[in-house]
Amino acid sequence: MADAQRPRTVLPPLIAASNTPSNTPSNTSLNAAVADRFLRAGTLNLAAQPPLALYVHLPWCLKKCPYCDFNSHETERHGGGVGGGVGTTLPPAQQQRYLDALVADLEAALPLVWGRPVVSVFIGGGTPSLFPPEAIGRLISDIRARLPLIPDAEVTMEANPGTFERERFRAYRAAGVTRLSIGIQSFNDRHLAALGRVHDRAQALAAAEEAAASFETFNLDLMYALPGQTLAEQAEDLATALALQPPHLSVYHLTIEPNTRFAIDPPRVPDEDLAAEMLDQIAAMTGAAGLQRYEVSAYARAGYRCAHNLNYWSFGDYLGIGAGAHGKLSFPHRVLRQVKWREPARYMDEALRGTATSNEHEVARKDLPFEFMLNVLRLRDGFPLSLLAERTGLPMSAIEAGLARAEQHGLITRDWSTVRPTDRGFDFLSDLQEMFLA
Ligand SMILES: C[S@@+](CC[C@H](N)C(=O)[O-])C[C@H]1O[C@@H](n2cnc3c(N)ncnc32)[C@H](O)[C@@H]1O
Ligand code: SF4
Repeated sequence: MADAQRPRTVLPPLIAASNTPSNTPSNTSLNAAVADRFLRAGTLNLAAQPPLALYVHLPWCLKKCPYCDFNSHETERHGGGVGGGVGTTLPPAQQQRYLDALVADLEAALPLVWGRPVVSVFIGGGTPSLFPPEAIGRLISDIRARLPLIPDAEVTMEANPGTFERERFRAYRAAGVTRLSIGIQSFNDRHLAALGRVHDRAQALAAAEEAAASFETFNLDLMYALPGQTLAEQAEDLATALALQPPHLSVYHLTIEPNTRFAIDPPRVPDEDLAAEMLDQIAAMTGAAGLQRYEVSAYARAGYRCAHNLNYWSFGDYLGIGAGAHGKLSFPHRVLRQVKWREPARYMDEALRGTATSNEHEVARKDLPFEFMLNVLRLRDGFPLSLLAERTGLPMSAIEAGLARAEQHGLITRDWSTVRPTDRGFDFLSDLQEMFLA
């Protein structure tokens, strides 16, 4: 269950990437090159292209958290106090160069998505709120000048309470961010310290209160099963979050990831039984507060689900720009996965040369059923069967054996139009997903 709780699908993994650097052309021959490479006949037949979203990765943080394996790097800071706080940003030259690199990355990718409307933008990290509102404003204008965002497109930005400043949050709204996602993790000072966070309870509360005042919609990220956390402390954390009346909550089971400081020196965390009790408590408390669990780790009031993440979980398309950003793009006869250079300095050099992509590969036809099911089974309400053909061009027979087995084991229910994980299926999601491996 812990595995299924991880926020991984927010940045879906690149599966079986090739190690061959791509050879991205950077001039007007791009259109012809794209047509040659991606529009030629292939093994799939997609009737239509899925909705397209944009992910932008800003890779720096004030301090690397000991549990975090995201592509985030400690940086030199400009202004602000020890541990962050008022006025903390990245050095201006670094901001400028990175924004230039993002534009170059986006421009090189445009031929892959010509004419397609963009349904949502997610500015994630790292700590995007290390960029001041003027920089985020420039980024959003640069995007809007190059991509047709739909009217009312959701534009989410992640913020860390350690960079909180009242006027700054309001200015992000004015710069075009429509939804703020705040990395609270906990409101308990002891647990925040154990997680190596740069903020305390007071900053977490102030940041969440300001998000509620400045944005029509916002999200709070919490983690549970924290080092030394009791059931009562977890309830207190969640009650504090719910009292702020967030339209959306993401609640993740703390996962000890390889290649993190916690993996080398693991803290004592609640055992599986206690973690399961915590999850039951989370379901009961969020439900009583009017938030519906609509995905493994996501809870929302009606009308406030995250459009961007829903697009991932519905196997939609996304272009990823920024260091280490992943993308998935569909063409009539193939599905392409891309990843950008991971290390920020290398990424900036490469992107500015028009070669931001470090790896790309076509998803093999035999891998598509699993990749599709890995995402759609995360949705509490399940998915329409017609989505398989729409998103992959594959016939129902591609998942029929897996569905039959899952049904036999009581992990899904289905009728002629819809497949839905059962409570048991949701509890054993990794087992359920594995039934669709090639
Ligand atoms: C990519 S992080 C970005 C948020 C922001 N940088 C912050 O931490 O304030 C998104 C969320 O993933 C969650 N997360 C990160 N590492 C995790 C881990 N090892 N286990 C569970 N959740 C994790 C945290 O809740 C975090 O807010
Ligand atoms: S602030 Fe967020 S992205 Fe940065 S190291 Fe901590 S968890 Fe990772």
